[in-house]
Amino acid sequence: MKVKKAIESRRAYRSLDPVKITNDIISDLGTSAQLSPSCFNYQPWKYVFIYDKQKLKELQKAITGKNKWVKRASLIIAVFSKQEDDCTVGEREYYLFDTGMATAFLILRATELGLVAHPIAGFKEGRAKEILKIPEKMRLITLLIIGKHSEEYNELMTDSQKSKEGVRPKRKELAEFISIDNFDNPYKQ
Ligand SMILES: Cc1cc2nc3c(=O)[nH]c(=O)nc-3n(C[C@H](O)[C@H](O)[C@H](O)COP(=O)(O)O)c2cc1C
Repeated sequence: MKVKKAIESRRAYRSLDPVKITNDIISDLGTSAQLSPSCFNYQPWKYVFIYDKQKLKELQKAITGKNKWVKRASLIIAVFSKQEDDCTVGEREYYLFDTGMATAFLILRATELGLVAHPIAGFKEGRAKEILKIPEKMRLITLLIIGKHSEEYNELMTDSQKSKEGVRPKRKELAEFISIDNFDNPYKQ
């Protein structure tokens, strides 16, 4: 699969079928994050892969809001880091950026492998860290919810979530986030 195709076919789907998680999948996804660039090559990203059924169930206790659909996950990847593990240049801290880039690589590779890798922010950070034994000083940035895309709606989805499943949520126009030569000169198509 070409990178462009992976970017285009990636979606944050919530209808998930089970998928068998193997060491090969973990190593493949891990290698994709491993090759990501980082400030001074500090590689600040850390991941916990959770696929033990009992542990997945326990982690549900930390999931909040309208994220009941997460119960259908075959694998959850906890993504975490801390500021001290990466560069700080003046006031610019790079750990979230570098961890985000590595995680984007992982998500695209998951897409290429035919998996859904859906990041969520809807979880209680303290509770999740406790369950996963992630040290207090780490920032748990996101949980990646992994499964296989199902054509059947997940019955745990809200009506609004169902309506978004088949249609990608609208994006800003390029001119809203790209400027040419200076910030006051929006890109024109
Ligand atoms: C940092 C982050 C947090 C998110 N949190 C949630 C969440 O808690 N629950 C959820 O259902 N989707 C969550 N999403 C998914 C977004 O809603 C989704 O990516 C966005 O609507 C665009 O849809 P698309 O990824 O299918 O193109 C999150 C995505 C990101 C990157």
